[in-house]
Amino acid sequence: MNPASPRRAPMPRGPLSGKRTMLRRGLAMALAALNRGLDRLGFGHWLHRRIHRGLEMPELTLWLRDGVPGLDGLRIAFVSDVHAGSFLDANDLVRVFERVQEAQPDLVLFGGDLINTREREILLFQKALPVLRPRHGVFAVPGNHDHFFGPDIGLWTSFLERHGVQVLLNRGVRIEHGGGSLWLCGVDDLTEGAPDLAAALDGRRHGETAVLLAHHPDFFFEAAAVDVDLTLSGHTHGGQIRVGGWAPIHHSRFGYERGWFQENDCRLYVGRGVGTTVLPLRIDAPPEIPIVTLRSRVVAQAPRPASAGRAVPATV
Ligand SMILES: [Fe+2]
Repeated sequence: MNPASPRRAPMPRGPLSGKRTMLRRGLAMALAALNRGLDRLGFGHWLHRRIHRGLEMPELTLWLRDGVPGLDGLRIAFVSDVHAGSFLDANDLVRVFERVQEAQPDLVLFGGDLINTREREILLFQKALPVLRPRHGVFAVPGNHDHFFGPDIGLWTSFLERHGVQVLLNRGVRIEHGGGSLWLCGVDDLTEGAPDLAAALDGRRHGETAVLLAHHPDFFFEAAAVDVDLTLSGHTHGGQIRVGGWAPIHHSRFGYERGWFQENDCRLYVGRGVGTTVLPLRIDAPPEIPIVTLRSRVVAQAPRPASAGRAVPATV
């Protein structure tokens, strides 16, 4: 992990991390209407393209626990909060995914909110998904916006599965890489879905490195309790609009707004996401697709020269 950035979780704050109430649902519908109205005006697309000139793809490193073999060099592209259909069209997605593919990730993980507020927005991915060709595949979990039109996301799921994206809806898969194995799993959204971490971890071997996709960063609280090595989340858009380092809307009770967090040996990275919602604006929160490279502290021994003494395993 980047040594300068880990932080302890601050005290809980903000009212927006629990299940939706009718009042909040009504507010979401009103904001969606505003979003759609602005989307029709055209200047939103122009503004969004200007925002995307500032898309950042930081190279991050996660050091695995001592003694975990393999996985060294595995590269993960984390793409969250695309909000396709909100000031962002199919051609924009192609351009974004071309940049992801240029980074040559081994895995591409979608962290939810692929769409904004309409079921048909998932069709915007049809042209762009074939651009992604990571060797270990493309995986996704839903976010609250993917549930916007109701709890049944069967069409969303079947579209993605039909186009080669494995949806990790409370389940996991094993990824073999570099002589080691990774339990890659995902949960449903915390506020709109029915997350089940036990089901997602069912099948993980004892001591196996686990990476969890969870749209809402507050899920890290649960993941850290069962030693999930890395949780990747979005949802907050890094604040999306921040003034003087402060975002007027908090989406995390625990202040998990952006970047790295740590509890014991467990890490959370909250990505700022790709798109925007409600307004085509980002202030002090540029779009981001982090590339996380896993590093193992177990380094293969060099062949021992015949005259050398006792070999000592090298660690970094
Ligand atoms: Fe989002």
